[in-house]
Amino acid sequence: MKIEISNKLLHEVEADIKVVFVVDKNFEHKWVEDKEELEFLGFKGESEEALLLPHKKTIYVGCENLEPDEIRLACAKALTQTKKTKAKTLKIGTYSHECPGTNIKAMAEAFGLADYSFELYKSKKEPTSLESITICTDDYNGVGVSMETATKAISVGTIIAESTNFAKDLVNTIPFEMNSLKLEEVAKSLESIENVTCKAYGKEFLEEQGMGAFLAVNRASHIPPRLLHVSYKPKNATKRVVYVGKGLTYDTGGLSLKPGDYMVSMKADMSGAAAVLAILQGAAKLQLPYEIHAIVGATENAIGPEAYKPDDVLVAKNGKTIEVRNTDAEGRLVLADCLCYAQEQKPDLLIDMATLTGACVVALGEYTTGIMGHSESLKNELHVTSKKSGELTGILPFNRYLKKLLKSSIADMSNISSSRYGGAITAGLFLSNFIEDEYKDKWLHLDIAGPAYVEKDWGYNQCGGTGAGVRMNLYWLIEQSKNEQNCEK
Ligand code: BES
Ligand code: ZN
Ligand code: ZN
Repeated sequence: MKIEISNKLLHEVEADIKVVFVVDKNFEHKWVEDKEELEFLGFKGESEEALLLPHKKTIYVGCENLEPDEIRLACAKALTQTKKTKAKTLKIGTYSHECPGTNIKAMAEAFGLADYSFELYKSKKEPTSLESITICTDDYNGVGVSMETATKAISVGTIIAESTNFAKDLVNTIPFEMNSLKLEEVAKSLESIENVTCKAYGKEFLEEQGMGAFLAVNRASHIPPRLLHVSYKPKNATKRVVYVGKGLTYDTGGLSLKPGDYMVSMKADMSGAAAVLAILQGAAKLQLPYEIHAIVGATENAIGPEAYKPDDVLVAKNGKTIEVRNTDAEGRLVLADCLCYAQEQKPDLLIDMATLTGACVVALGEYTTGIMGHSESLKNELHVTSKKSGELTGILPFNRYLKKLLKSSIADMSNISSSRYGGAITAGLFLSNFIEDEYKDKWLHLDIAGPAYVEKDWGYNQCGGTGAGVRMNLYWLIEQSKNEQNCEK
């Protein structure tokens, strides 16, 4: 499906279907031509409500307001409705925003995100007729947006959607295929983008580096571990941003085995890895002026005679010792070593992304990412930016008392808290033990356990992998680099 731009007026453009947004519940918009019919058919104009008038070849979609995330939801709704018809072409006007280009970017993003489907394992693919969408710069006011701004907005929105969809594909692929070696292939394939290089390290390297925590998690797997390091280094980069992703290609729980119904969906335990690779891909395609690193700790958490055990004591790369009390708290072990490695890159900003705890899902619900860290300003900045991207985040605060719950009588720390409460935060505090003082205020931990994989459609997300964290980070990087064409601040 192509997205095109036209500077003609909306009524001058030929298309099988026209999309019209309704904010005013009395339908008092100059662009609503079918007020009486809408009233007669009981259309309320509520958010995410859509009505197709076939004889008018028009889809009306309700919106709370004309801010970007309502526009995304409405575009997604319109696209899903249109794909049920035989329409080949769709057209939509531009609803003016104080920052020109903002809504067009949101439209391109939403159409790209909503058009995604994962049919790799279906013997019959869902047929679709829709070939192209035309976004008109016409804003019904005769003002509109310049072609240059609109073209740039569509290109940025499309890259953001494609990167998110790339992460979805990695997460949705079955664990039999998407193992550490396949992730290595995927990481290497990013080298086709300008200024991107990839290094893949195996067991020997991890041993040399003293990554005893990462190695222990891999011990029962018949597939070797991989530490993947993808770098995007544009000339004259002004900042170095290092991302670390949890790449558990399957999490059985290990010997602290998960019950059957909790194990289903644990193919998505590499969503952090998928997200950091996708962010790097997006940043490189957008040619952002930052050096970006995506570091992935890839392995399965399996069971077998070699498996690491509760009661084992592991030594991480920074020399700290960890008592294993639960082998299902494995992500933090892999991340501990990867975070030590990541700091050797001397980041200006260090962000880890992980489906780390069920407790985060309990705390915030399944749609929201938990943001943790020591810097109030960094946490707030990302929280505010995530709203613009349409992703939901909540800040979970560290405190000294929760930190004490990680004490161990036999090692420097335990891999689980001694309390059943505050599990997302204690996991974040565990990771903090592997962050040097120098980097404490440059580090954020994002727990994406809730939104990374949801077993139902929601908003413009499909059932399954969602690419959680990709959009908010790309928005943040774009914003920081001030490269944006529109004036979002
Ligand atoms: N991968 C899971 C966390 C998870 C749970 C992700 C649900 C997505 C959805 C993680 O490795 C895990 O099992 N964590 C344990 C920690 C516990 C043993 C302290 C958990 O959350 O139960
Ligand atoms: Zn686990
Ligand atoms: Zn896990």
